[in-house]
Amino acid sequence: MSVGPAGTPSPFGGPRHPDPCALVIFGATGDLTHRKLMPALYDLQCHGVLPCGLTIVGYGRKPLADESFRALLRHAVDDHYGKQVDDMLCESILETPRYVQGGFDDLEGYRRLAAVLDELDRTNGCDGNRLLYLATPPDQFPVIVRQLAASGLSRRGASDGVHASGEPVAGWTRIVVEKPFGSDLQTAMELDGILNNAFSERQVYRIDHYLAKETVQNLLVLRFANAILEPVWNRRFVDHVQITAAETLGIEERGPYYERAGALRDMLTPHLIQLFTLVAMEPPVAFDADAVRDEKLKVLRSVRRTPSDRVTEWAVRGQYAHGMMEGKAAVAYRAENRIPPDSYTETYAALKLLVDNWRWQGVPFYLRTGKRMAARLTEIAIQFKRPPVTIFQDAGALEGLEPNVLVLRVQPAEGFSLHIESKVPGHGMELQPVAMDYSYGGTSGELPFRAYETVLVDVMEGDMTLFTRGDQAEEAWRVVEPVLEAWGRRPQTPIPMYEAGSWGPEAADALLGADGRKWRRLDGCS
Ligand code: BG6
Repeated sequence: MSVGPAGTPSPFGGPRHPDPCALVIFGATGDLTHRKLMPALYDLQCHGVLPCGLTIVGYGRKPLADESFRALLRHAVDDHYGKQVDDMLCESILETPRYVQGGFDDLEGYRRLAAVLDELDRTNGCDGNRLLYLATPPDQFPVIVRQLAASGLSRRGASDGVHASGEPVAGWTRIVVEKPFGSDLQTAMELDGILNNAFSERQVYRIDHYLAKETVQNLLVLRFANAILEPVWNRRFVDHVQITAAETLGIEERGPYYERAGALRDMLTPHLIQLFTLVAMEPPVAFDADAVRDEKLKVLRSVRRTPSDRVTEWAVRGQYAHGMMEGKAAVAYRAENRIPPDSYTETYAALKLLVDNWRWQGVPFYLRTGKRMAARLTEIAIQFKRPPVTIFQDAGALEGLEPNVLVLRVQPAEGFSLHIESKVPGHGMELQPVAMDYSYGGTSGELPFRAYETVLVDVMEGDMTLFTRGDQAEEAWRVVEPVLEAWGRRPQTPIPMYEAGSWGPEAADALLGADGRKWRRLDGCS
C-alpha cells in the first residue's frame, strides 16, 4: 500500500515499482487463478503497473503443455472481461508462461521447477525474484511448504535480496498463503510452525483480501489523518459498532470446503475480525507493516474471551432454508450440491465482542455475516451515543432522535457517510436524519481496481502492511475458540434456519435485543 499525492493519475496511489519476478502459482489450473489472479494481472497490465520480466509459472498435477497453459490463462481473462480485452496487452503478459507438472508431494517435481526458475533468471530477467503463490485447497499448504523447503526453493531468509545469515542472495523469495490459515488455533499453530521452518516471517504474506478493499484502507486514513475523529473514537462517545458482511451468493461449487468451514471460519474469523481490529486498534507509531500489525495484535489480546458456558448469549448461528433470491427460487443449504441433507454447518454467524481496554471498555462490537442474504453489502457502522438532553421537545422525546452513525461502506458503492439530525426546512421545528455522503466511485459507485490487484502489487514491492502476521492469525482463532468449541461440541442442537433472501435468523435479533439494541436495517431504510 502506498500513499500517493492528490490527483495522482494511477489508481494505485502514485508510482509503484514492483520488482520483476517469476510468479509461481501452485494449483494454477484452479478456480482462484481463473476468477481472481488472471483478471487482476491483466488489469494491472492495463494500468501499466506490472514490471517487465514478470513470468507466470504454473505448477500442478494435471499434465499440460506450456501452450495449453497459456490458452487456459487467456481464457480466464476473456471469461472475465469478454470483448473488452485488449489483445496486445493481454498477450504481453502471456508471452512466455511456463508449466511444470508435478504432484504437490513429489520432490522431483520441485526440482524440475527449480531448474525452470533458474533458466528464467537468465532468459527473462526475473533477477532471482520468486513469488510463490499457494492457490490450492488449504489442506495442500503443509505438504507444498515442506517440499519447497526440501528442494531449497524456499531460500529461508531471502526476503529482500538478503539471506537471514546477512549474506546477499540473488533476488527475493516470498510466499503468498491464502486463507484460511488453519481451521482452529491448533491447526493454525501447526501451519505456522511448518511455514517458519521453511521461510522467515518476512517472506510470508498471508492474504486477507478484505484488508485490500479501498474503504478498509481508507479507514486508516480517516482515523489517523483527520483530527476530528480521534477525540470521539472511544467509549465516551461511541455506543456500539456493527460490522456486517452480507452476501447474496450461496456456496457455489465449494460444497465440501464450505461444509467443513462454515461462516465462522470462512468469513467471520479471517475477514470481519480483521476489520474489527482496524476500527478498534490504537494509533500505530508509524505507517509501516510491523507498527500497524503490532497494534492489531494488541487489540486482539484485549478482547474478552467468550465464557464457554454462555456462548449462546454472545454468538448466534444460522443456516439458510429455501427462499427467493431476486425473484428466483433458491434452494436450501441442505439441498445444495454435495451437502449432506442433515448438515449442521452454519451459513450465518453473528458474534458480540467486548474489548477490555481503556478506549473501549463497555462498548460492544457486533459482527455478522451470512450467505444468501437479502442484499450484498459489507459495512462498518460506528454508532455514537445520543445527546444527553434534547431542547427540541416539540420534535419528539430524546429517544425519538436518531443517533449519529458513521458508516463505512466497504462494498458495493464504496464510500462513507455521516448520519446526523437536521431541521426539515419550513416554519416548524421538525427534525430529520440526513446523511453527509462521500462515494469513491462517483455516481457509478464502481472503482477501477479491486483487492487482488492491490495485494499482488504489494507482494511484488515487499509491502506487508495489508497482510496478516502469524501471531495475529493465531490470536484471531483464540478469540473465536470458545464459539468453535461450543458449536462443534453439540452438533445435534437444532440450528436456527433463515429463509434465503432474508436478513438472517431471528435469534440474531435477540443477540442485540438483550442489550437494548437493534441491527441496522440495510435495505436503504436504516
Ligand atoms: C472469501 C470466502 O474469503 O470471501 C467466500 O471464502 C466469500 O465464501 C468471499 O464469498 C467474499 O469476498 P468478497 O470480496 O466477494 O466480499
